[in-house]
Amino acid sequence: MEVRRLAVIGTGLIGASVALAAKRAGAAGIVAGFDPDPAAVEAAVVRGALDEPVESPAAAVAGAELVVVAAPVAKLAAQVRAALEASSEETTVTDVGSTKTGACEAAGASPRFVGGHPVCGSEARGAEHASAELFEGATWFLTPLAETDPARYRLVHGFVSALGATPVAVDPHAHDRLAALTSHLPHALANLLVNQAGATRVEGHEPLAAAGGSLRDMTRVAGANPRIWVDIFVENAASLRESLAEHRRRVEQLEAALAAGDAGFLARWIGEAAGNRHQMLAEALRAAAAPRTRARPAGRARGHHAGARRRADQHRGLRAAPRLSRSWRYAHAPRHGRRRGRAGGRAARVAGLRRRRLAGAARMKIEPATAMRGHIAVPGDKSISHRAVLVGAIGEGETRIEGFGRSADTESTLAAVRELGVIVHEDDVDTLRVEGAGLRGLHEPAGPIDCGNSGTTLRLLVGILAGQEGRFELTGDESLRRRPVDRVAEPLSQMGAVVETADGKPPLIIEGGELHGIRYELPVASSQVKSCVLHAGLYAQGRTTVVEPVPTRDHTERLLAAAGAAVTRGQGRVSVGPVERLRPGQVSVPGDFSAAAPFIVAATLLPGSELTVHDVGLNPTRTGLLDVLERMGARVTTFHRQRIGSEPVGDLEIRSAELTATTVRAEEVPRLVDELPLFALAAACARGESKVVGARELRVKETDRIETVTAALRSIGVRIVPTDDGFLVRGVPTRPRGGAVSSQGDHRIAMLAAVAGLVSSEGVGLEGAEAVAVSFPGFFELLDSVTQP
Ligand code: S3P
Repeated sequence: MEVRRLAVIGTGLIGASVALAAKRAGAAGIVAGFDPDPAAVEAAVVRGALDEPVESPAAAVAGAELVVVAAPVAKLAAQVRAALEASSEETTVTDVGSTKTGACEAAGASPRFVGGHPVCGSEARGAEHASAELFEGATWFLTPLAETDPARYRLVHGFVSALGATPVAVDPHAHDRLAALTSHLPHALANLLVNQAGATRVEGHEPLAAAGGSLRDMTRVAGANPRIWVDIFVENAASLRESLAEHRRRVEQLEAALAAGDAGFLARWIGEAAGNRHQMLAEALRAAAAPRTRARPAGRARGHHAGARRRADQHRGLRAAPRLSRSWRYAHAPRHGRRRGRAGGRAARVAGLRRRRLAGAARMKIEPATAMRGHIAVPGDKSISHRAVLVGAIGEGETRIEGFGRSADTESTLAAVRELGVIVHEDDVDTLRVEGAGLRGLHEPAGPIDCGNSGTTLRLLVGILAGQEGRFELTGDESLRRRPVDRVAEPLSQMGAVVETADGKPPLIIEGGELHGIRYELPVASSQVKSCVLHAGLYAQGRTTVVEPVPTRDHTERLLAAAGAAVTRGQGRVSVGPVERLRPGQVSVPGDFSAAAPFIVAATLLPGSELTVHDVGLNPTRTGLLDVLERMGARVTTFHRQRIGSEPVGDLEIRSAELTATTVRAEEVPRLVDELPLFALAAACARGESKVVGARELRVKETDRIETVTAALRSIGVRIVPTDDGFLVRGVPTRPRGGAVSSQGDHRIAMLAAVAGLVSSEGVGLEGAEAVAVSFPGFFELLDSVTQP
């Protein structure tokens, strides 16, 4: 039992629900309750919430171990103060008010007070609607201050956990700003919208009479109980005004874009909104699906908790729901309107991608589609985004990165450079400013650097760390800890760095030192290894040359050269010399060809498709899939070729086509290494036998992709056989049957399964769909937007 005697001041919906939930959980022995309105006390008694209805606050708090003040916002401060004054030193006081600054001020930094706010509610009021389940799975903000007694904090933390809520510590002022943004602003805007429509006549027509779903959905919370909301608006006026000012700025930005006819802005803006909403819903889904373990509080209160939670969430983001999603960009508005769904039971599948969430957060069914139509743009290139942040981190002055591709992987790079002391401003979802620390300005962090799922983060960063002073440990998630890093340890050791690994796998520990240039012949064709060595070459005496067996992606060379490094390139080799400084200045990141690839393959395979992907990176070291597909008969046309920064970019128009089999040769592999899973699907639908050779590297990707691709495609009826260094596919120009696929936590396999579902005859049940967030958090929504059922 958490509390022997619980007192609830205010026995309305929330107060009575606290009492009921505490009783049900066995978290309180005796529950006493007071409300200035005797009818409210009566209702709580009828509801079975109270053991002792009392007639004064003093009687309620007498002998109570914990007092929960559940008063309306306007009376909250006074009642918190009164509860503290009336109670003894043994009593801990908390509250459930939806604003926190005032209540905490009223408590006058008492060590006995811990502010609280359960984020839940109901449109109903009064104890008669109270529910013991109201707090199940809800976030319950707690606002301990530096003065708060840790033991009191632990008591309240344990109590709200017992009620089924998840306690989250936050500063009171931060709480009120958060509440303004996520609750008070939406309420205010709902009122504004409906009042604007109500006050306007358009040539005699009443907008409210003509209102469709949009206005109704947007204004669900309009006109909420004024007795509650007037107080909230008044109490939190400062934070709400701050949110409104930012809102006004954004409205003006939108107005300017409309005035300029800036379709690009609008497309990005809608894409950003879709990504954000997706993140919000995925987060809710994750919270609903998460097993509810009782969180254990730490000894210290403020700050400590919030930090610990953030870190845990970051890890979850890699494996669970795609909470890191924010940036992805749609291009110009779709030319083809979406088709309406058929009547009856199909109404829910209005249009687009037909997929259903199955039981559990991460399972979904992707139904067969007829075609892909419309215009899209994909998120910023992941490889270039990583590199831009890393080079920016050791650059001089500010590096502005536009079109940054948000994903769990690139968030790992951002987090890593921050751990190393670099300041990164996130001006917008896809616009960052990195304050360069200078070539040798990175600082040794207190603990290991967690690269999450991202091999690129680890392998590229370690080359830079070889030139820094200090000892750095790099590690990652389970998948990354199974992947080889001896391939970077070896050349760095040759250059003079001291590198340790766990049997060739992470954790990798590096001590920087005096480096000297080497000539290094890559034993495997890997851009990550090449980039690592080139990064270290910036710090080495003499020149460093990397010789490649076959060309791999060359974004590092392009970026370093643009930032002022002395990069020279010859047939099959690239060299770099030591630099005094790097000045990347501005990096514009094109759309990620690897993110476009699932769309290219789906549109090729679905008859009647006509899809345009705008602003996609067309660096020839990345577009091997296009060459291979064209050889098979695909119809992909490139328009608007241009150069953005140091990278070629263009629009791709894809029409469906019948394909014939082909062989992917070893020297082609690096140019489509991440697209080989999708090639296997294209081959499955092409006439004849296709094969991939010389792709042993697939075995050391996020999963062993020779095995995971084979397993995924076999389980949907494709005839595919793994080989030591690739696979053989016996293709037939019909739809594969479909079936059940597990992503095995691999983002590329999840996207493969989604496309396989669209082109199948029976659909694909996908386990582990959330893995897409590793590279492309908004993938399903974007797919949805152009899929014809
Ligand atoms: C990447 C290079 C490739 C690729 C990975 C990203 C990069 O790996 O598979 O997804 O950004 O340099 P390798 O260079 O090890 O083949």
